[in-house]
Amino acid sequence: MSLTNAIDLSGRRILLTGAAGGIGAATARACAALGVKELILADNGPLEKIGDELRSLDVAVMTHRCDLSQRKDNAELIAMAGDLDAAVACAGICPLEEDWLDDPDWDDVFHRVMDVNLLGPIHLCRELLPRMARRGGGQIVLIGSIGGRMGGTSPIVQPHYIASKGGVHALIWWLAQRAAPQGVLVNGIAPGPIATAMTSTTNYPKDRYPLGRIGEPEEIAWPAAFLCSPAASYFSGSILDVNGGLFVG
Ligand SMILES: NC(=O)c1ccc[n+]([C@@H]2O[C@H](COP(=O)([O-])OP(=O)(O)OC[C@H]3O[C@@H](n4cnc5c(N)ncnc54)[C@H](O)[C@@H]3O)[C@@H](O)[C@H]2O)c1
Repeated sequence: MSLTNAIDLSGRRILLTGAAGGIGAATARACAALGVKELILADNGPLEKIGDELRSLDVAVMTHRCDLSQRKDNAELIAMAGDLDAAVACAGICPLEEDWLDDPDWDDVFHRVMDVNLLGPIHLCRELLPRMARRGGGQIVLIGSIGGRMGGTSPIVQPHYIASKGGVHALIWWLAQRAAPQGVLVNGIAPGPIATAMTSTTNYPKDRYPLGRIGEPEEIAWPAAFLCSPAASYFSGSILDVNGGLFVG
């Protein structure tokens, strides 16, 4: 066994979706710190800030604004991105403060959540997998959730989000089995509550958490970057539970 550092992204081109968000931007910074060759950042929100920050660190960056719930946008993104070594799908939504029992518009929101959180990664992988397979391999990371493991940690999280993330976990297992023989490794992360825009309006009482706090975006970013590295070469169909001990199983 070689003792060189295998958590090294030098020479790698990596796509990050949801890159304007908390976990996506933190993953971009982690990849930059690990020597990534080029980052392709996608989001339907503004990417200028994270793009400029990374360029100021001499990281090569392409940005692409798109709606990743749409099949066409995913196809355009992957065509634009060119050859990729790895991708992390962080784009997601978690609408709160609705009422699934009585809200007449709730079903519309359900479909939007499924389109972004579940159909979006399917669109992405439909484009990515054949291309990575033709190149002889690649690494794909989908972001699930502790909600998909245990039904959520806050009573205001709605069943559409929980179902979408349970679906992401099942999708990781389905994709991993089909992609591994082609050299493509599909894995995931199931984060516990993390301090980002997504959770900014939710109250998380410290005494409910084994570590006395929720997580920081960096604490998901480093495992995500690891799953894009040569050090993760025997991971396929794994979902890393990164939740500070909130869910063990
Ligand atoms: N923050 C948490 O507590 C937590 C916990 C478990 C899982 N997650 C998951 O982690 C991922 C990242 O979430 P985050 O916490 O960084 O939230 P965030 O809101 O900071 O980032 C999400 C990003 O996704 C982008 N996005 C949303 N819809 C999109 C679309 N249709 N097309 C393109 N981009 C789109 C948003 O613009 C945003 O920049 C999500 O999949 C989320 O479900 C988050």
